Amino acid sequence: MSTEHGEALTTTERLVLREVRSSDLPVLERMWRDAVMRRYLGGPVSDEEVAERRKYDQAGGLMVATHSGEVVGRCHLGRYRTGDLELSYAFLPEWWGRGYAREACAAAIGLAFDRFPHAARLIAVTQEANTRSVRLLEALGMARVDAFEEFGARQVMHAIDRPHSIDGEAR
Ligand SMILES: CC(C)(COP(=O)(O)OP(=O)(O)OC[C@H]1O[C@@H](n2cnc3c(N)ncnc32)[C@H](O)[C@@H]1OP(=O)(O)O)[C@@H](O)C(=O)NCCC(=O)NCCS
Repeated sequence: MSTEHGEALTTTERLVLREVRSSDLPVLERMWRDAVMRRYLGGPVSDEEVAERRKYDQAGGLMVATHSGEVVGRCHLGRYRTGDLELSYAFLPEWWGRGYAREACAAAIGLAFDRFPHAARLIAVTQEANTRSVRLLEALGMARVDAFEEFGARQVMHAIDRPHSIDGEAR
């Protein structure tokens, strides 16, 4: 689907999810350095790591923007070490509290199941102390399936199964 802002992978009522472009680099760099956004993600990324990411870390994400083109955050679809599809997400703090993450992540989950037809479920891992993130996962219908210590903190894994169509077949 083409919009005035380029190729949209999917759209929602308020948002557009599209591939990352090189012009997103300034906002991505802000996301990597922002102490509030990185609070439960190991803190701001070092200058050396930012330099590396500027070279390589542009391709894997889904930029989330309003229909007028303002970037509000980013979702990322990857593979967790269990082999499960993994969703991660980071939104700019000035856009928190409007349900944008819920709207975008729900769309990203739909996209993931469409793109990867053999994936039985999708997971997300977050720090238990990251209450906004845990609330988001619950709101998305993702159930807690595991908890463990990693990176010096309690991590919780949530999962959602592939939705089934009305005739009982996996979508
Ligand atoms: C995790 C994170 C995305 C959650 O953001 P968020 O803004 O709290 O989440 P949402 O966009 O879903 O907004 C939900 C809130 O908006 C409210 N809201 C307002 N309008 C809404 C609407 N139209 N629809 C739904 N919810 C709405 C909800 O009631 C909820 O409020 P609450 O926070 O008081 O419970 C955000 O804190 C973040 O980016 N953190 C940094 C990155 C990070 O830690 N990622 C996790 C590791 S993967």
